Amino acid sequence: MTDQVLRVISVGVGGRARSHLNALAALPEKFQSVGLVDVVEPAFHVARQITGLTDAACFGSLTEALAAIECDVVGVFTPGHLHTSYMEEAIAAGKHVVVEKPFTCDLAEAERVVDLADARGVKLVVTQNDRLFHPYPWLREAIAQRRYGALGAITMVHHNARGVPFNNGEPPMHLWHQASHQVDTLLSMVQLPPRRVRGVNVTPQHSAWHAEPHVCAIIEFDGPVVVSYTATSDAQAYEMYVRVECAQAALTVHGTSTNSTDCILRVTPRQPGNRYPRAEVFPFGASERHIHWAEIERSMWTAFWDHAVLGADDECSGRNNLPTMRVLDAILRSSQEGSVIDL
Ligand SMILES: NC(=O)c1ccc[n+]([C@@H]2O[C@H](COP(=O)([O-])OP(=O)(O)OC[C@H]3O[C@@H](n4cnc5c(N)ncnc54)[C@H](O)[C@@H]3O)[C@@H](O)[C@H]2O)c1
Repeated sequence: MTDQVLRVISVGVGGRARSHLNALAALPEKFQSVGLVDVVEPAFHVARQITGLTDAACFGSLTEALAAIECDVVGVFTPGHLHTSYMEEAIAAGKHVVVEKPFTCDLAEAERVVDLADARGVKLVVTQNDRLFHPYPWLREAIAQRRYGALGAITMVHHNARGVPFNNGEPPMHLWHQASHQVDTLLSMVQLPPRRVRGVNVTPQHSAWHAEPHVCAIIEFDGPVVVSYTATSDAQAYEMYVRVECAQAALTVHGTSTNSTDCILRVTPRQPGNRYPRAEVFPFGASERHIHWAEIERSMWTAFWDHAVLGADDECSGRNNLPTMRVLDAILRSSQEGSVIDL
């Protein structure tokens, strides 16, 4: 076993990055935070407390940070529309990259960055944590093992009462900011290449958002397996529902408050002839989902370390994220053209 400690410069340290800085601090045998980059001074306050770094390690640009400090990894945690240029700068400097979702807000950019990383011999990982929240890994394993027979269909309905539009990034809003998570989670469960997409990316009449908060899509796979996805970030009330329909059972997940809500998982075995089939019900609490946040961050960084140092595959590598990007791009094109997109 190697005991290499990867030195990390983090860019965009005032929001979501704090979770990553905490994860790095919890893994001192694998990572060391060595630099912080942001464009507003207050962003550094908490980041300095978490990392123990001083003013001398804080910079207004990645260019300055790279010139002043040795590092192995650049973490890109800025708003999504800024990810590509920071990833390109880091890769050109020969650094591994860990980037928040959305990987990019454009498929061609994502493909270009993956190729650049390969050509430069550095690793690139997208922190797709949604797929790791309970019960998705459980559903994924049940599908992979055919515990309830062959998978036929998945339905995901996700209404988020976010209240305000995303304050950063490019339109369309829900597609890049949330569907980038949820489509990734759906693909992680189906575990087949997506073949065909129909999509609608829209601002419903009642919404005052300046960029589309609502996405509907149908994604077809070999089998056939079909996924239907309806989601918005501008709902009046939170509700999420996921239904996995297999040959021998329906598995459903339902939650009604916030993202880290109490949920109910129901397993309803196939009961031919029974008009009211009985289900086994497994409630699981917000705490069960929420308490795992820090654990999930640490597991993502550990997987990245294994990827960068030991050469292990990472399910969240940039290349492994391209199918998600292709589906998002296909939803957009399908919506714009009113057509069916073959992948
Ligand atoms: N995986 C998750 O669970 C999760 C949750 C929230 C956000 N995110 C993602 O994390 C990223 C950041 O989200 P956030 O909510 O922290 O955003 P944010 O708007 O709070 O911005 C994060 C930081 O980036 C800084 N910043 C802005 N422009 C910059 C620039 N040009 N150069 C350097 N720094 C700059 C801001 O000052 C801020 O400190 C986004 O891609 C978002 O989609 C992921």
